Amino acid sequence: MRVLIAGAGGQLGTELTAWLRRYRPEWAVHAYRREEWNVSCRRQTEALMRDLRPDVIVNCAAFTRVDACETRRLTALRVNAAAPALLARAAQAVGARLVHISTDYVFDGQKGGCYVERDVPRPLNVYGWSKRRGEEAVLAAGEGHLVVRTAWLYGPRGPNFARWVLDRLQRGETVAVVRDVIGSPTHTWDLARFLAEVLSTDATGIVHAANTGACSRFTFARTLARLAGLDPEAVRPARAADFPLPAVRPLYTPLCSTRVGRLPVTPLRSWQTALAHFVQRIKKEERA
Ligand SMILES: NC(=O)c1ccc[n+]([C@@H]2O[C@H](COP(=O)([O-])OP(=O)(O)OC[C@H]3O[C@@H](n4cnc5c(N)ncnc54)[C@H](OP(=O)(O)O)[C@@H]3O)[C@@H](O)[C@H]2O)c1
Repeated sequence: MRVLIAGAGGQLGTELTAWLRRYRPEWAVHAYRREEWNVSCRRQTEALMRDLRPDVIVNCAAFTRVDACETRRLTALRVNAAAPALLARAAQAVGARLVHISTDYVFDGQKGGCYVERDVPRPLNVYGWSKRRGEEAVLAAGEGHLVVRTAWLYGPRGPNFARWVLDRLQRGETVAVVRDVIGSPTHTWDLARFLAEVLSTDATGIVHAANTGACSRFTFARTLARLAGLDPEAVRPARAADFPLPAVRPLYTPLCSTRVGRLPVTPLRSWQTALAHFVQRIKKEERA
């Protein structure tokens, strides 16, 4: 299989590239960072499709700075909505399938339960709105494409919330972390493994892929501290209202799936198991 990865310099792109090269050595994996391939550039995109003739393109590129999206709407729209539309059409033209990554921030958090694939999106901020426009464009461009929604990504390659908590606690500082924001923290390693398996299926439409279970940012941070042998009490409870931010965030967006169980893929692990694995990897990195 010939796989083309966009946004390979980001936290998911880096993990996915390394994962596929290690565990799918028989696949040809072409991975490009932003400096090498700007997904907003039609000329570059079409040339790559023509030259590489990929079977599948995984779009990990995005403008993910949620607060910056509020003031840089055009950039958000260009990278998160227009570029996926361009990619989907360019993929279609060479008979390739696009697997596009999206987010729990397409939801407003008002459901009061975990979100499944058929729930109706209602984004609260520009980032979520631009990502939803991207999803719609991908799904409208061809029947073979797949949108994979994930949530609260973290991995060894930051910046991300888990790395921020670890760095602060390792320096002996305390951190105030919100107790009323609930979601599905997802280890990039688990999502990379899921993507590797889903690439071999003919799944189309939307699928949710997040580590199972849900927790608050506070519980996540305390669990991380405990697993890393740091003081959980250094994580102090706070409320979202204590940290007013430019972009309004949804408060309750755990993802679950009515589809994963019916696909020929290994279900994702619990967030606790995935977090313990993350801590092992960090410790191994520190020892190396
Ligand atoms: N992080 C999360 O918590 C989270 C949660 C749910 C869903 N997601 C989704 O998961 C996907 C991966 O997220 P991530 O956490 O890996 O984000 P990330 O670390 O910010 O990676 C995104 C990558 O896209 C690159 N990029 C930006 N504009 C580009 C362009 N025009 N052309 C090519 N590359 C471009 C960025 O480069 P620069 O760094 O140079 O700008 C960065 O390397 C995204 O679709 C995101 O929306 C993320």
